[in-house]
Amino acid sequence: MNKILITGATGFIGSHIAAAFVKEGREIVVTARNKGDLSGYQRMQKLFQWFQLNGTTDKLCKVVEADISRPQFGLSHDTYHSLLNDTSEIIHCAASTSFADKLRSSVEVANLEALKHVLKFATEASVDRFNLVSTAFVCPTGLNVCKEEIVERKSFLNVYEETKYRAEKESKRVCELSGIPWKIYRPSIVYGNSQNGRTFRFNGLYYPIKTLYLLKRMFAGDLQNGGNHSMKLGVHRDDEGRIFFPIKLETKPNTGINLIPVDFFVNAFLALFNTDDAGKIYHITNPYPSPLELLLDYTTSYLDIAGITTRPHIQKSGEQRNAMEKLFYSYLGEYSLYLTDDRVFDTSHTNHLLQPLDIHCPPLDYRLFKTIMDYAMKTNWGKTLLQE
Ligand SMILES: NC(=O)c1ccc[n+]([C@@H]2O[C@H](COP(=O)([O-])OP(=O)(O)OC[C@H]3O[C@@H](n4cnc5c(N)ncnc54)[C@H](OP(=O)(O)O)[C@@H]3O)[C@@H](O)[C@H]2O)c1
Repeated sequence: MNKILITGATGFIGSHIAAAFVKEGREIVVTARNKGDLSGYQRMQKLFQWFQLNGTTDKLCKVVEADISRPQFGLSHDTYHSLLNDTSEIIHCAASTSFADKLRSSVEVANLEALKHVLKFATEASVDRFNLVSTAFVCPTGLNVCKEEIVERKSFLNVYEETKYRAEKESKRVCELSGIPWKIYRPSIVYGNSQNGRTFRFNGLYYPIKTLYLLKRMFAGDLQNGGNHSMKLGVHRDDEGRIFFPIKLETKPNTGINLIPVDFFVNAFLALFNTDDAGKIYHITNPYPSPLELLLDYTTSYLDIAGITTRPHIQKSGEQRNAMEKLFYSYLGEYSLYLTDDRVFDTSHTNHLLQPLDIHCPPLDYRLFKTIMDYAMKTNWGKTLLQE
């Protein structure tokens, strides 16, 4: 009974935490489901290969083929009890990050039903601590400073925010009832490694940029073939030969996108995890969210496209969108709400522990933006990850 159990280790955040532990030589146990024709073990092997930690799966990381969304993780009685005996602490990372309401029931299974099974397991194992990886976006919108505490909220932008909010409350409730110390970590939007751009997930920050990249390619092809489609949407080549998109994105004052690189997240998480305290919530966020205008500037420079600017958001502005704007916003879907986010995150608890250790979130300047986008291009947005 001395291992840290990590759920969601086949995902972006969980695998980075798992890799960080094994790099430090610490033994972990992970639950992993099979997917396609790969077992949970094979999936972890592939991931550790990506982290250049070949061979780790056998040495420091025990993989239990399990599905936490099923009672007793779908394990036999003996395997479940052996896992209970092995586990001293839990880091619960598994979750669905989908915003889509049409997927509500599967998001609820991942974020609430699976949590229920993990909390039951935590109680049965009498773990030393339960660590929940939550999200900064459980905080309510509305330009309030969000404290590092359980918040009260009635309306939500989407099912993801709602279920993560409920997951925090349930974790605190069950842990306090069972006498289990708990901690909650709330990262904002996580992108690739700030040193080399490495990532294997291209959602979040990458998604709108990838959308523009693909639109640029599509319209370049159309313009070469007579430009029928482009003409209808007002897309053309400007005097400098760049594809010009007539898009004005709606923006609001004092808003921005809170983005953190994954290496900062991991360093911050480990430092916060390694402190003995409990009953604390930590915002792992960027003190300088990137305004939409700035990200747009970076994106148009990087992709060498023109025409995209911003305009103040007005009520019912969606109705005034031109055809190209409607097309772009339809691709953005639920993501568009995060382009002008007004949440401000208090980081008193987090800073108190991270500042003495000199752990800071780097500013997202153009150099860093280029590093992460160069990696996205090099791997064709993750399609050729293992050939890098
Ligand atoms: N990425 C971010 O920017 C970000 C920001 C803030 C907070 N977070 C939080 O970080 C955590 C991990 O997110 P992520 O970005 O790493 O997501 P991810 O890459 O999609 O990974 C999700 C993980 O959860 C597992 N999972 C999902 N649904 C499940 C289910 N029904 N039953 C069992 N396991 C399930 C997945 O297993 P399979 O691989 O088997 O599907 C995978 O291991 C989440 O709690 C999320 O809220 C992420």
